[in-house]
Amino acid sequence: MKIAIDGPAGAGKSTVARRLAAELGFVYIDTGAMYRALTFKALEESLDLDDEDSLYQLAQNTEIHFQYHSHGQRIICDNRDISDYIRSPRVNAEVSRVASKPLLRGVMVAQQRKLAENKSVVMDGRDIGEFVLPDADYKFFLTASIEKRIMRRLEEMQASGYDIERETIAREIMDRDQRDSSREMGALRVLEDSIVIDTSDLKVDEVINVLKSYLKEN
Ligand code: DC
Repeated sequence: MKIAIDGPAGAGKSTVARRLAAELGFVYIDTGAMYRALTFKALEESLDLDDEDSLYQLAQNTEIHFQYHSHGQRIICDNRDISDYIRSPRVNAEVSRVASKPLLRGVMVAQQRKLAENKSVVMDGRDIGEFVLPDADYKFFLTASIEKRIMRRLEEMQASGYDIERETIAREIMDRDQRDSSREMGALRVLEDSIVIDTSDLKVDEVINVLKSYLKEN
């Protein structure tokens, strides 16, 4: 079975997707982490983030996979565990610029499909239902009010030890929304067959129960 979960930053996708996958015994694939890994590497190599050709080459020459542990998953990029670096403010600020490049997206989509081959998966991102797993058994679209999304992202960053202002997060989320929704390929949008869930007033457990109620129905 394939479950696609799309939605904007801060809607609660990754927490929900990870927990749902664990409960169902499925593999969780965090595609945002893959774009973040490429962004981290591009910044480390001081690449020009507007140069699509060099980013395309970077994507082709980068090996990304996940390692699963009982306490969570790690992202391995060219044999190096970079999990602790991909959620920095710098990566947050630049990732949607990197993810907007169509050639690079082509490489990532192919890799993501491969990761999901012959497995039951929960995959989260922006374009999963539309491009990566168009035949997914379930396509959920998680959303939440902008206020809630800013608050969640702020709490997440603070919990990771970043001292960051609310205004900075608000600007970053709004910029990212704008870029993620307007790019030419793989833009974030609600599909005809998406099941839309507003998580603004729901706890994680409640969101998971809503998703599970859809799985049970069929
Ligand atoms: O879900 P996230 O915040 O970790 O995603 C990081 C960025 O990657 C976000 O700005 C959108 C982009 N992304 C994408 O373009 N396509 C995906 N399938 C997943 C993420």
